[in-house]
Amino acid sequence: MQRILGIETSCDDTAVAVITSTGKILSNILSSQDDFHAKYGGIVPEVASRKHLELISVVVQEALTSAETTLSEIDLIAVTHGPGLVGSLLIGVDYAKTLSSLLGKPIIGVNHLEGHLLSPTLLHPEICFPFLGVIVSGGHTQCILVEGIGQYTILAETLDDACGEALDKFGKMLSIPYPAGPKIEKIALAGDPNVFSFPLPKIREKRFALSFSGIKTAASLIIQGMTPEERENRKADLCASFQEAVMKQIIHRIQQLIPLYSFSGIAFSGGVSANQRLRDLALQHVQKPVYFPSRILSTDNAAMIAHAGYQRYLINGPMALDFPVISRLELSQ
Ligand code: KG4
Ligand code: ZN
Repeated sequence: MQRILGIETSCDDTAVAVITSTGKILSNILSSQDDFHAKYGGIVPEVASRKHLELISVVVQEALTSAETTLSEIDLIAVTHGPGLVGSLLIGVDYAKTLSSLLGKPIIGVNHLEGHLLSPTLLHPEICFPFLGVIVSGGHTQCILVEGIGQYTILAETLDDACGEALDKFGKMLSIPYPAGPKIEKIALAGDPNVFSFPLPKIREKRFALSFSGIKTAASLIIQGMTPEERENRKADLCASFQEAVMKQIIHRIQQLIPLYSFSGIAFSGGVSANQRLRDLALQHVQKPVYFPSRILSTDNAAMIAHAGYQRYLINGPMALDFPVISRLELSQ
C-alpha cells in the first residue's frame, strides 16, 4: 500500500491530504481563507497567495500528524498545477517540488478539474467507464463524457458564468457574504421556489450549452426594483427561486444528454454538488444511477488531488521537476 501526499492551493483554500493507493483518506486538512475574502465580496489574489505562504508548512504538518505518517513514508507527491490563480498555484507547486527534491520522492502535477471529476470515485469505487462527469463549481460548469483516465470529451459547458459564480454574484446583490452558495441553500429552506420565475435560457447556436447570465440579470432587475425592506422580507423566496433555476438548468441539460450516449451513470463534483436541492432533483429526475462525492470532497480539497494524481501516475509515471503552473489549464491538456 502506497501513501500519497496531496497539495491544493489553486484558489483561496490551503489544503493538504494523505490518502492510500486504495483510496482510503488518512487525513484531509483544509485551512479556509473565506473570512479574509468575505469582506471584499470575492477572492483577492494577492491576499490568497500571501495566506498560502503563511499556512502551507503548518497545514502539511497537520495533515501528516493527523494521518500518523512521516514524510519518509510518503511514496508520491501530487500537487495542483492548474487551473487557478498563478500566485496561489506557485506556492503549492514550489513547496511540493522542494519536498520532492529534498526527499527524492516522485512528484506529479494535477489538473484541479480532473481532481473534481474523479472525486466521486473515492466514495464510489464502483463507478465504471463511461460515465457522465458533471463539474459544477465556482469556476466551471461542464458535462463531460469520461471514457477512461485522461479520456475526456466536453459535451456541454457554460457560455458565461459558472453556476457557483452565478450563485455568488446573486448573493452579493442581497449582501450575502462570499461564498454565497451554501448560505443561499440555507436561506432558501424557508422560501418558496415558485414565487419568482427565472426561465431556462434559449440558446440557438449551441443546443446543450448552459448560461446563467440571463437569470442573473433578471434577478438583478427584480432586486433593484425592491425597497431594502422588501429585499429583506423576500430574501428566502428570492434565494429559493434563484437556486431552483440554477439547479433545474443543470438537470435539464443532463436529461438532454442521457439518451444520446451510453453512460453507466452520472457523477457530480465541485462545490455546487454539495447542494441538497441539486442532489434531490438529480435523484428525482435523472433516470440513471447518480453519484455524488461526500460533502467535504465536493468543495476544494486535497484528497481529490492525491487521488487524481495517483490515477495519472499509474498511467504516465512521475513528472520532471520543471513542470509549469498553468493558470488556464484545460481538462484536455
Ligand atoms: O469547487 P469549489 O470549492 O471551488 C472551485 O473550484 O470553484 O466551488 C466553490 C463554489 C462557490 O461558488 C460556492 O458558492 C459553491 O461552490 N458552493 C455551493 C455550496 N457549497 C459551495 N453552492 C451551492 N450550494 C452549496 N451547498
Ligand atoms: Zn474547485
